[in-house]
Amino acid sequence: MRIDIISCVPRLLDSYFDHSILKRAKDAGLAEVVIHDLRDYSENKHRQVDDYAFGGGAGMVLGIEPIAKCIRYLQSFRNYDEIIYMTPDGDVFEQKTANRLSMTRNLIILCGHYKGIDERVREHFITKEISIGDYVLSGGELPAAVVSDAIIRLIPGVLNDETSALTDSFQDNLLAPPVYTRPADFEGLTVPEVLLSGHEKKINDWRLEQSIKRTQQRRPDLLK
Ligand code: ADE
Repeated sequence: MRIDIISCVPRLLDSYFDHSILKRAKDAGLAEVVIHDLRDYSENKHRQVDDYAFGGGAGMVLGIEPIAKCIRYLQSFRNYDEIIYMTPDGDVFEQKTANRLSMTRNLIILCGHYKGIDERVREHFITKEISIGDYVLSGGELPAAVVSDAIIRLIPGVLNDETSALTDSFQDNLLAPPVYTRPADFEGLTVPEVLLSGHEKKINDWRLEQSIKRTQQRRPDLLK
């Protein structure tokens, strides 16, 4: 899979995808993230990509021209399954969206900045708008990294143990159960006996029970 991220502050994203699971995905040829500087598509000698809002008001607006040029350039090489815009007024991102997007081949993610982007971009180029939660960040870069990370780790072969993404919180509307590692006794704080029993069925039953209990306590809304 390939994700093209368009940003006017690409440096914010530079190092994120060069580490850990995302680096492994790249090295294994399973996922590629390419970051594009929107300013490279500006026709302006100052590489300006934003302008004042028609009608006045505070805040600059990202213009349609560089965005259209960048998207069309990318589309000249491949077809995109979705052209996503990160925005606090988009659909709130959930695991089921990550699951669906992890099965696509090519995505564009456009990061917003300033007061937003010209509405005509949203109407004519964008196919999906995603929010990562009900709060406002200063740009769409962190949200784009969040969404890309959630998608890429679901691609088969990216995680070491293929089943481990399947046991994540939210994957089946249940939160993940507690986990423990050595030592089995830390200053009298012990690990639940069943986990040391080697009895696979009992361990699985215990984990399911803990998942249900935890979900009832912390996120009863998921059980409805
Ligand atoms: N840009 C700014 N805030 C955002 C949010 N909460 N989700 C997605 N994009 C954003």
